[in-house]
Amino acid sequence: MGPVQTCLFVTFLSEHLHNVYKTNNFLSRICRQLNGLFAGLLKTKDFGTTASHISFPAIWKLWDQSLHRLPGHLSVVAQSNSIFTKPEMFDKKVELDLNVPHPRVRGMTLLNRDAFKRNVVVPAIKVNKDITNKLVKSLKEVMIKRPGLKRVIEDPEDEGRRFILLDPHKMSADGSLGQPEKEILKSFNVSPKIISYNMELTYDHFKAEEILQAVLPEGQEVTTAFSRVGHIAHLNLRDHQLPYKHLIGQVIIDKNNGITCAVNKINTIESAYRNFQMEVLAGDESNMTTKVKENYLSYEFDFSKVYWNPRLSTEHARIVNLLKSDDVLFDVFAGVGPFAIPAAKKNCIVFANDLNPESYKWLQRNCKLNKVDTKVQVFNMDGREFMKGPMKEELIKQLSLKERKSSLHIVMNLPAMAIDFLDVFQDLLDGEPSSTELPIVHCHCFSKHENPAQDVQQRAEACLGTSLEGLCSVELVRNVAPNKDMMCISFCLPAEVLYKPPSSLAGVDNTQQPESKRLRLTEDTLDEKVNPVL
Ligand SMILES: C[S@@+](CC[C@H](N)C(=O)[O-])C[C@H]1O[C@@H](n2cnc3c(N)ncnc32)[C@H](O)[C@@H]1O
Repeated sequence: MGPVQTCLFVTFLSEHLHNVYKTNNFLSRICRQLNGLFAGLLKTKDFGTTASHISFPAIWKLWDQSLHRLPGHLSVVAQSNSIFTKPEMFDKKVELDLNVPHPRVRGMTLLNRDAFKRNVVVPAIKVNKDITNKLVKSLKEVMIKRPGLKRVIEDPEDEGRRFILLDPHKMSADGSLGQPEKEILKSFNVSPKIISYNMELTYDHFKAEEILQAVLPEGQEVTTAFSRVGHIAHLNLRDHQLPYKHLIGQVIIDKNNGITCAVNKINTIESAYRNFQMEVLAGDESNMTTKVKENYLSYEFDFSKVYWNPRLSTEHARIVNLLKSDDVLFDVFAGVGPFAIPAAKKNCIVFANDLNPESYKWLQRNCKLNKVDTKVQVFNMDGREFMKGPMKEELIKQLSLKERKSSLHIVMNLPAMAIDFLDVFQDLLDGEPSSTELPIVHCHCFSKHENPAQDVQQRAEACLGTSLEGLCSVELVRNVAPNKDMMCISFCLPAEVLYKPPSSLAGVDNTQQPESKRLRLTEDTLDEKVNPVL
């Protein structure tokens, strides 16, 4: 240990003992005097490698090790951004990590940004101003990295010099720079002498996750994940996070550029229109109208009134990719248009419907915004009525065309309920089945089954009254919750489902029908017997 380190060590030890012997006047006075004497000696700027080549972090670690055996622990209290250190006793655990805010923030529910401030000592080198840029490039791997932290600091006492701040974790075991960095410094003719630089880390220098980890009870899961919807951050907080919800919302706003409002999903309320119920946690709650881009198209809507999920962008693109120019798309639960609008952009003829008047309003607006309003017919009806009305009418027209090249697609994205709408297809049309390709249905639904594809297929079959074995494909759209998947079943509507059987006329022999249809007729007949009003 060199003379400077010895001074530091004695200063620090005497301070500690002074605290320990507070109740003994004599011992306490001796310690205080020793402390004053050695602290005075320490008022020199450059210390570290001068005498012993052992830099401050190494000594620091040494003290830390020795002091863990004493009742108090080491901490460093320092002046803001100075190179003067004053070791002091602190009744707190040593925080060597630069990513930990001050421990007093634990349990905070109302955000007080000032309370996050913490003084730390970091290693630094002193270099000539004119080579700073080149050195920064070469040393970037070992330089300190913190959000918003200046890593090159002017020397207040020497205009021509700069401090380059280093990451204490990237220093070698004895606290000095590693050999490769020493070589770099040598090539620039710079001394590898390490200086201890005292600085203040503030709220701005910590990441959202570090802030929340410091605030929430130790050991509890912290999440900074959210769905971004324009300027709104959409969170899905767990129960244990709820006491901190407003603070969490504000931290998310502070730490993410462009986010000015944070909302939390409320799971308990089921809405008729399936839009998320939400609570504003922080930020401007008066403006929930936002604008987003998805697959190069723009959508505008009031997020508090309609359904929008940025995690569906891949599914929107997947379905739209199945369509070709001139195809016809019926979007039964269209929302604000993420299937309908890109399909229209592809030159498809689109019939888009939504029951929610707000979705309908924004759907119209988005068609205009993306200049496809002449290609999309928009409806505000219950899905069932839309299927039996405008969709049926257009299907009759399309299926009567002799030389139709285009395909007909029906998208049904209301995963909690859409499968129950499939019965509408039963006997929807009269007459002879068309000789052209029949409509292709893409129906979304949730499954909690261990074999979700089989589950979805069976449920679709039950609603259609026919087997889809070998006639459908089932895609996993996304995993919604640990035990819940969103799936999409696609199939070409079987003619025997879509067309009324001639046998529905009285007296016709049911045994002429395909087996699935016979099954259905038998059930229908049974139903009639049980409930003649149906
Ligand atoms: C899950 S969202 C899907 C919206 C859009 N297709 C998308 O991918 O973002 C379901 C939509 O169905 C609408 N909806 C709910 N019940 C409906 C019904 N009975 N008839 C028609 N639309 C309905 C909701 O308003 C909502 O916009």
